[in-house]
Amino acid sequence: MTYNVAIGHSDIAFPADRDETVLDAAERAGYSLPYSCRKGVCSTCEAGLRAGTVEIGSRSIEGPASAVLLCRAKPKSDIIVHPRRIERRDVSATKVIDAWVFRLSWPTEEVATLLLRFPVSIRAKFKAGQYLRVKSPDGMARNFSLANAPQESDGAQLHIRHIDGGHFSEAVLAGLKLGDRVRIEIPFGDFFLREDSDRPIICIATGAGFAPVKSMIEYLIRRESTRAVRLYWSGRQAQDLYMRELPEKWAAKWPWFEFVPVLTNADASWSGRKGLVHRAVLEDVPDLSNFQVYASGNPLMIRKARADFTREAGLPEDQFFAEPFVLTGT
Ligand SMILES: Cc1cc2nc3c(=O)[nH]c(=O)nc-3n(C[C@H](O)[C@H](O)[C@H](O)COP(=O)(O)OP(=O)(O)OC[C@H]3O[C@@H](n4cnc5c(N)ncnc54)[C@H](O)[C@@H]3O)c2cc1C
Ligand code: FES
Repeated sequence: MTYNVAIGHSDIAFPADRDETVLDAAERAGYSLPYSCRKGVCSTCEAGLRAGTVEIGSRSIEGPASAVLLCRAKPKSDIIVHPRRIERRDVSATKVIDAWVFRLSWPTEEVATLLLRFPVSIRAKFKAGQYLRVKSPDGMARNFSLANAPQESDGAQLHIRHIDGGHFSEAVLAGLKLGDRVRIEIPFGDFFLREDSDRPIICIATGAGFAPVKSMIEYLIRRESTRAVRLYWSGRQAQDLYMRELPEKWAAKWPWFEFVPVLTNADASWSGRKGLVHRAVLEDVPDLSNFQVYASGNPLMIRKARADFTREAGLPEDQFFAEPFVLTGT
């Protein structure tokens, strides 16, 4: 039994198999919808259900309904949905690569940077901002954003925040040595730099959320772009901005780039911005109607930023792109 999934306000339609989520069905048909965790946690895949019935777990939802999670919703009739975005996707692009550990360092106690190199002659195509999956033989898979620019396609740089009890960030990372093999699958994700726009960009990142943003900015530098970018990077304390000298260097060199570090628990020695990072953006730019925003890291920050930017500052909903770093193991 298959059902027809139609995308509202478009001529796009595709079939969904019995027990298939709308997100999986869209991807199988060659389309990309917004997603991040694929676990029903981050809300990135939220869409309007215009008509028809879907099931999420044991719950049946009948349209019209708002905020339906397409990574969990399985059609139980023909349906019409209205996602935030839908784009064509390159289904052949994902690769499994046995990479090797080239460098592992800990700029702070909380964050490790892991540099993986691919075997000679293997290159991975990805877009600035996308992520990869680290896989292990026991079936464990963990998501980490690529911090290197896509032009550096012979390896992957990852910024990994230590999670107490975390399978990869604690147990696996502690045992990794130079030259060890790490199996990855690459690339994934809808969080990538949109190059079909020349809107000025605001990047807003917490902690290791800097990783995908770094990829985007280094990509723009290599392309000799002059598109305006302002980065707000937040941590609790100064050491949480584990590579602060890098965006400071960019800001000194490139007139199109600005950097605003923001701390939530600053000590007396900090003379910079304090408080919630998304409120700092609103203080500086009360009208976001002409901007494009990329937000990554803490899921709560992203939820608040999306709500306040669209409601208070006129940011169009489809100009807010997000990568909430949802935990996998829970
Ligand atoms: C698209 C995407 C991109 C991301 N990019 C990054 C990035 O660039 N950098 C980054 O640092 N993070 C990133 N994250 C977040 C990262 O994937 C998660 O934090 C991931 O869970 C870390 O893996 P881990 O193995 O270290 O921890 P996990 O093993 O996943 O543990 C997470 C939590 O679950 C608990 N737990 C584990 N197993 C169990 C169990 N069996 N029962 C109960 N509790 C359990 C752990 O104690 C811990 O509190 C990203 C997430 C997404 C979705
Ligand atoms: S809730 Fe669906 S992708 Fe996160």
